[in-house]
Amino acid sequence: MRFPILTPQEAADIFKNGDNVGFSGFTAPGSPKVVTEALAQRAEKLHEEGEPFKINIFSGASTSDRCDGALARANAIGIRTPYQNLPDLRKRINSHDAHYFDLHLSELAQKMRYGFYGDLDIAVIEVSDIKDDGTVVVGTGVGNVPTYASRAKKIIIELNEKYRHSLYGLHDIYLPLDPPNRGEIPIFKPSDRIGSPVLKLDPEKIVGVVMSDNYEGVKPFSTLDETTMKIGANVCSFLIGEMKAGRIPSTFLPIQSGVGNVANAVLYGLADAKEIPPFAMYTEVIQDAVIDLMKKGRCKFGSTCALTVSNAVEDEVIDNIEFFKEHVVIRPAEISNSPEVIRRLGVIAMNTALEADIFGNINSTHVTGTKMMNGIGGSGDFTRNAYISIFSCPSITKEGKISNIVPMVSHVDHSEHSVDILVTDQGIADLRGKDPVQRAHEIINNCAHPMYRELLTDYLKLGTAGQTPHTLQASLAFHTEFLSSGDMRNVNWANFVK
Ligand code: COA
Repeated sequence: MRFPILTPQEAADIFKNGDNVGFSGFTAPGSPKVVTEALAQRAEKLHEEGEPFKINIFSGASTSDRCDGALARANAIGIRTPYQNLPDLRKRINSHDAHYFDLHLSELAQKMRYGFYGDLDIAVIEVSDIKDDGTVVVGTGVGNVPTYASRAKKIIIELNEKYRHSLYGLHDIYLPLDPPNRGEIPIFKPSDRIGSPVLKLDPEKIVGVVMSDNYEGVKPFSTLDETTMKIGANVCSFLIGEMKAGRIPSTFLPIQSGVGNVANAVLYGLADAKEIPPFAMYTEVIQDAVIDLMKKGRCKFGSTCALTVSNAVEDEVIDNIEFFKEHVVIRPAEISNSPEVIRRLGVIAMNTALEADIFGNINSTHVTGTKMMNGIGGSGDFTRNAYISIFSCPSITKEGKISNIVPMVSHVDHSEHSVDILVTDQGIADLRGKDPVQRAHEIINNCAHPMYRELLTDYLKLGTAGQTPHTLQASLAFHTEFLSSGDMRNVNWANFVK
């Protein structure tokens, strides 16, 4: 190999305090692993010596514990965007040690190319293969790597030897021109390939290659419980009903599925929903459940930004890589999440809420309105441009102390204008063509847990004025009650009536 082989520690020494750094990958797959761990150790040492050391991290989405986790524990993260999902980083964000800005995933690459966030000093790129001319086959997550590679002044490669078989042919690397020169992104079905199976890096920028042979470290999902199974079944019965009514074509439309336990349960529900024909996915992550759907012939094809699968499933994918090359394409985030393509294909978007309000607004990111959970991720890219946008969540959390259906969400990620369908374990609320009060009745009767229906209906009766009859002084009472007594059921509306 013409590039110098570096130890992780030698690579870590290349970074300077305040550097803007782009990481390859999307969720744990494709993210750097060994350089970041060594960098965290270096940061800890510098901090002990009284030296400041933080880097600003631009990724594709979340990363792994070896990346965000290690660097957060070392308090080595200055700015962070566009998404994260690890407890240690969450703590740093909520205590203002790390400055996180939460961004729609499709938007970061172009904003970076136009210099919204300054220069990019270093890109760390995980690859499965590299040639002497700088041509690489990236790992199982792409994210914003084409943009980071083109913008970075220096590139550090992590060559992951875990891939026993070549990944060549799994990716479709495409970099669109920026406005005012942007043409259409010519994807007309999920399986269309419009770019290259490889990424061409400038060999002059490559400062070294660090070897690794690491799994992605994706945690398996919690086993399905009664609640998540009911949500999955309700989503499927809604989709079947729409198809029977002719509102979804009998050939079906591509599906996007969000992240988390609830999303995973919805996908498992699709395995058994035999009335739905084999379908394609145009989505940003392919989880374990989708691999299962592919093996069963239920999912014909998946366009994604990453294969976010657990270690055992990853082994299975690598050992059957030729099958998966025929069934999967991995694209950069600005293409997997492109609003233009999502709208054109008629994607059915299925995402998860932390809470929904009775008028149809969704909070996906902030626990009790203040504490950042993960981020908006790609949910906005898909929701706003979907053919049908579905949100799901359990009706209650923490043994009923929290109602996931509230009078007013404590933070808005997706507004009533972008939400067509709400699903909980209790049932389905179809919000299409309904005014705010009609939506409220639909949501309370079909989605709220029975133990909260009367409280929510009584809230609606408090407000008499306006199209959306909120009573502002009481609108966040569920949340304030939870913060004071620990149980939303203790709300007493009499306290709010003058
Ligand atoms: N108030 C307080 N806590 C709540 C809550 C609420 N309304 N709703 C859920 N929680 C808690 C749960 O109790 C659980 O806590 P625990 O970890 O202590 O058990 C935690 O939040 C996660 O809940 P769970 O029901 O397991 O959620 P999930 O794994 O299905 O994830 C989201 C749900 C919303 C956090 C996740 O889907 C997400 O981050 N979405 C935003 C990004 C996105 O949609 N990306 C996909 C685009 S393709």
